[in-house]
Amino acid sequence: MNISIILAAGEGTRMKSKEPKVLHKICNKPLLEYVLNACKKADIDKNIVITGHGKDKVVSNFNDETIVFRDQPIYEGAPYGTGFAVIQALDEISDESIVTILCGDTPLITEKTLTKLMDYHKKGEFKGTVLTAVLEDATGYGRIIRKKSGEIERIVEQKDANEEELLVREVNSGMYCFEGKSLKDALKKIGNNNAQNEYYLTDVISIMNENGQKVGACIIDDSKEIQGVNNRVQLSQCELEMRRRINNNLMLSGVTLIDPSTTYIGENVRIGRDTVIYPGCILEGNTVIGEDCIIRSNTRIFDSKIGDGVDIESSLIESSVVEEGSHIGPYAHLRPKSHLGKHVKVGNFVEVKNATLGNDTKASHLSYVGDADVGNNVNIGCGVVFVNYNGREKFRSNIADNAFIGSNSNIVAPINVKEWGYIAAGSTITEDVGEGDLSIARARQVNKPGWVEAKGLKKHK
Ligand code: UD1
Ligand code: CA
Repeated sequence: MNISIILAAGEGTRMKSKEPKVLHKICNKPLLEYVLNACKKADIDKNIVITGHGKDKVVSNFNDETIVFRDQPIYEGAPYGTGFAVIQALDEISDESIVTILCGDTPLITEKTLTKLMDYHKKGEFKGTVLTAVLEDATGYGRIIRKKSGEIERIVEQKDANEEELLVREVNSGMYCFEGKSLKDALKKIGNNNAQNEYYLTDVISIMNENGQKVGACIIDDSKEIQGVNNRVQLSQCELEMRRRINNNLMLSGVTLIDPSTTYIGENVRIGRDTVIYPGCILEGNTVIGEDCIIRSNTRIFDSKIGDGVDIESSLIESSVVEEGSHIGPYAHLRPKSHLGKHVKVGNFVEVKNATLGNDTKASHLSYVGDADVGNNVNIGCGVVFVNYNGREKFRSNIADNAFIGSNSNIVAPINVKEWGYIAAGSTITEDVGEGDLSIARARQVNKPGWVEAKGLKKHK
């Protein structure tokens, strides 16, 4: 069985945050989620996450049957270190399992690299394999010390390294693969006699060497993948790299991003070919966008499904569905559970909430359509309000096909307007409207000739 142990108990002091480090987000998803996803894609069946600082928050953010949480005791003077963290998972490790160890704060690691590491480990018949990287600047990392024969001998932490060792540019990524039994045996022998008084996981490598067990070092292809997040500058660097990856994938799959550096798209968003995304758009969550759409600047869409050929300008769309050929914005807001049919128009300053608008229906300007089922080919005039709330309860309205709702009308729910029902502008509708009927609900206009002059209000210059 392939299992992973993901270290996430550290405090993340340099984040200067109330939140546990692994819950900080890049491209709108927690750091830990990226690591877990890479593991799942690499066929790792069980993921043991070691929690400590902020553990309750971490646990409540991830409910998934492939994850097991193990708690590292954190108190003043408690033992500490990556080795001590892994020890918390001992009872989850069977002798035969292949154990991949990762950190919860390295979100850029890919499935491809994990698979390569595991393959290297298996093919070399190693008992332990370290994933390493060669860096221009190795500051802060543990250095890989190799024997004359080229094999890895041990890892020395920066704080414990001598001058010669500090010159080594091959570093420990903090990711490894172990055979279960050898890992467990070696962990029993680690101590904390070092510069930081920590139980170092890295000592397992020299211990295995001393036991005559074969250990390996696999050099990563792209050293960006080992980038960890220790502070918010590094958080933004990881964000940038993740965004670059997501955007490049989309562009290579046929989506035009006019300015990828200002286009923010989540990892789970799917976009069809020949769709064009203008600068400043934010597309998040489980959003699916069809082909040939135009998403113009300053649009934010999340958890929504947008059909083919939809044109959206400077609008906010939340948890909604928009079918093909519809036109939204500028400055429209679809709140959750809105469903627009085909060729619908929702124009300037229109808000839709928990409502369906049938095919070819138009609400072109300044309306609120809340809690309503609106049929096909309905015209909702300028300034129409669906009055859905009496201060205590919400009610729905039903507007059938081909109805016409004149400008500046109020539809006081619950109301049924039947097919071809016609509401005169400025009406406040409190009763149902029959099929093909005209409904006028406003005071009749009264004209009083000469009234202004008779009142002495007309000023002559
Ligand atoms: C570790 C490695 C170092 C490597 C580097 C890569 C050791 C001794 N050193 O150093 O060789 O180059 O990672 O980034 O392993 N953690 C716990 N519990 C603990 C201590 C740490 O869960 O008691 C977690 C942290 O939350 C973090 C990870 O382990 O996610 C790494 O710990 P950190 O203190 O950052 O290790 P480094 O000093 O960076
Ligand atoms: Ca670190």
